[in-house]
Amino acid sequence: MKYDSTAISQESPVSEKLPKESPLPPAPVTLKDRIKGSPTLTTLARWLLMPANEYRPRWWVRTFWNRLKHKRGDGSVIRPTNRMDVFPYNRFEIGEKTIIEDFCTVNNAVGDVIIGNRTLIGMSNVIIGPVTLGNHILFAQNVVLSALNHNFEDVTKPIADQGFSTKPIRVDDGVWIGANAVVVPGIHIGRNAVVAAGSVVTKDVPPYTVVVGNPARPMKQYNFDTQQWEKI
Ligand SMILES: CC(C)(COP(=O)(O)OP(=O)(O)OC[C@H]1O[C@@H](n2cnc3c(N)ncnc32)[C@H](O)[C@@H]1OP(=O)(O)O)[C@@H](O)C(=O)NCCC(=O)NCCS
Repeated sequence: MKYDSTAISQESPVSEKLPKESPLPPAPVTLKDRIKGSPTLTTLARWLLMPANEYRPRWWVRTFWNRLKHKRGDGSVIRPTNRMDVFPYNRFEIGEKTIIEDFCTVNNAVGDVIIGNRTLIGMSNVIIGPVTLGNHILFAQNVVLSALNHNFEDVTKPIADQGFSTKPIRVDDGVWIGANAVVVPGIHIGRNAVVAAGSVVTKDVPPYTVVVGNPARPMKQYNFDTQQWEKI
């Protein structure tokens, strides 16, 4: 058959002459979507996962469901004194030889918590997702990383009744975070950076940089030309 170049003219829009593409099939409705879409199912699911007025998973969730659902690398250690408020509907993963030391709190209720290999979460740390940590990271004691902010805009309501928002926190490989540091939502800490003890990190930290204070400011940076850490 001969190709007719006039078949696509100005009077007839191109889209009408072209073969119609079949529409994409609708995305399958997951169990999670169904539960979220129904207040009754949401209440039931919540009750099954945690007791009323509490924010920690029930014993059966911790003992059975989480173990099937969450990935743990070989040689990883989670000390039994930790408070693991992790739920099966979000991700919680720790890599090989990663250790979560005593008295930590880890919470993935509102966002995934993913920790790489050979990372050390020091004593009494608090990690509230969504948080992604790379490999070979050192956290000292009492470090707090929370990716959650409570909404506070409406002054006619208690803040506790206003909901919350999240911004993911990311810490790259090789970082060291000193004791009592706090990292607020949305922060990215670059490779091999150092966060000094007691710092409050409110801005992203570039790689190979030492930040100190509240709010944390860059104090030193590695210069790859001179191969020295230099004061800023
Ligand atoms: C940041 C740190 C690593 C020191 O780095 P350093 O490159 O040797 O820095 P220096 O000691 O030379 O100090 C440089 C400047 O930063 C300041 N500084 C150092 N640590 C600081 C901190 N935690 N908070 C605020 N300022 C700090 C110093 O006062 C100094 O200020 P100046 O230049 O005005 O005098 C160290 O102070 C620190 O905080 N270590 C964490 C310790 C810890 O938590 N250990 C737990 C075991 S894992």
